Amino acid sequence: MTKTTRREFLRTAGATLTMLALPPAVRAAQEQGPKVLRPAPAQLKLRPSGAATGVWGFNGSVPGPVLRYPQGADVALSVQNALPQATTVHWHGLRVPNAMDGVPQVTQAPIEPGARFDYAFKAEDAGTFWYHPHQASFEQVGRGLYGLLIIDEPKPIEVDRELAWVLSDFKLGRDNQQVNDFGDVAHFGGGGRIGNVLALNGRPAARRLEVRSGERIRLRLLNASTARIFLIAFENHQPYVVSYDGQPIEPHGLPGGALALGPGMRTDLILDCTGAPGESFSVLDRRDKGAELVRVTYSKKPPVRTRRLPPPEPIAPNPLPEPDLSKAVDHFVLFEGGLLGKPAIGLVDGKPRKLHEIMSEQKLTWTMNYSAQHEHAQMHEPLLRFGRGETIRLKLINDTEFEHPMHLHGHSFRVLALNDRPVRYRPWRDTVLMGPRGTAELAFVADNPGEWMFHCHILEHAAGGMMGTFVVEG
Ligand code: C2O
Ligand code: CU
Repeated sequence: MTKTTRREFLRTAGATLTMLALPPAVRAAQEQGPKVLRPAPAQLKLRPSGAATGVWGFNGSVPGPVLRYPQGADVALSVQNALPQATTVHWHGLRVPNAMDGVPQVTQAPIEPGARFDYAFKAEDAGTFWYHPHQASFEQVGRGLYGLLIIDEPKPIEVDRELAWVLSDFKLGRDNQQVNDFGDVAHFGGGGRIGNVLALNGRPAARRLEVRSGERIRLRLLNASTARIFLIAFENHQPYVVSYDGQPIEPHGLPGGALALGPGMRTDLILDCTGAPGESFSVLDRRDKGAELVRVTYSKKPPVRTRRLPPPEPIAPNPLPEPDLSKAVDHFVLFEGGLLGKPAIGLVDGKPRKLHEIMSEQKLTWTMNYSAQHEHAQMHEPLLRFGRGETIRLKLINDTEFEHPMHLHGHSFRVLALNDRPVRYRPWRDTVLMGPRGTAELAFVADNPGEWMFHCHILEHAAGGMMGTFVVEG
């Protein structure tokens, strides 16, 4: 394969050079972003006319500030709560020590209004991660509390430009304000609370983007919505996937021509702008009747290069412990319930209950291994216990009519199979999208001691019982 030299990018990309083109040593000295995160009420312009929307944001913005560090950096962030309710911040996808994981009641006391909590951890893995509250996250994330956490590889893929797209949605009434139906049991047990305004980086879709013919762009995608699942397609373009959930993978085209991105999931793409000056194309969501997310237009300027670039080289892997399947300990988690299909019976506070009978008062509609648990505060028994250093092979059995992006804290796992079919490249992920009545088989080394959340990232489902913990013995 012909290697594209750094010089080619420096020479051809001229005006669009970013810090990515700096030598690693210079870049490593740079850290971006604040030392303080302050979740607080804010205003956001989400509709072309009428009032701005009252939202909650970090440091006055939605998404919050991009936090960016070189791999291996010591991260220190002070969270100062200016919300009208308690909160915490979770560093989604980073393998941090348990006490820094930001889970109320389980790893720390909630940060009360007016109080602060100082987080500190080392950024072991490079990639695209994100941060969000873990307290009443169905409401706090829904109101706008999320941001990107980017850890730079020592040797990133050479590109002309890097962009990050944070996708989310907002449910607005005619007055442009957020509909105050957070916590509705119909969302907890159904498809989640789906918004009516699509947003990209906190501004209404469809956004405009101008590119140069021949440009190579790295795109970091995050789905920060509480419930919406995207199926993202690029008209007339074939981007390469280079990482899922921050973990590098052999570069390959979009399986099936579109990218499924459930809540909490990230994907890094390399997009080669192969169109001609003056052309345009859409990036759209195939699940939402082809709703346009971004309208991309080629500038009239001459191409930055005319020959096609070879496929990108893979990004170096992160230091993840490789599961040894010959010694794997097998476990399973069975998911039942929801407001479609047969009513579930589950253990609530240790007693078997028919969930549909207690639903409106308890708001629990899902079970994991027969138990339905309230958010954090009243969690009692861990779902599973692992010996430290064990390879765990985990089978997820979704006996519900709904899709569930299942997220594990403190670890990344390999996805071995979906619906009993082996998955190509066995990608590393922290969130896996299980289809309705589907299965997923995962493997990981339980090397990070502590009690870790395992929950659906449709945050209304998590609040409705689809939340539990795994303990990795110290
Ligand atoms: Cu992104 Cu338990 O969370
Ligand atoms: Cu779910």
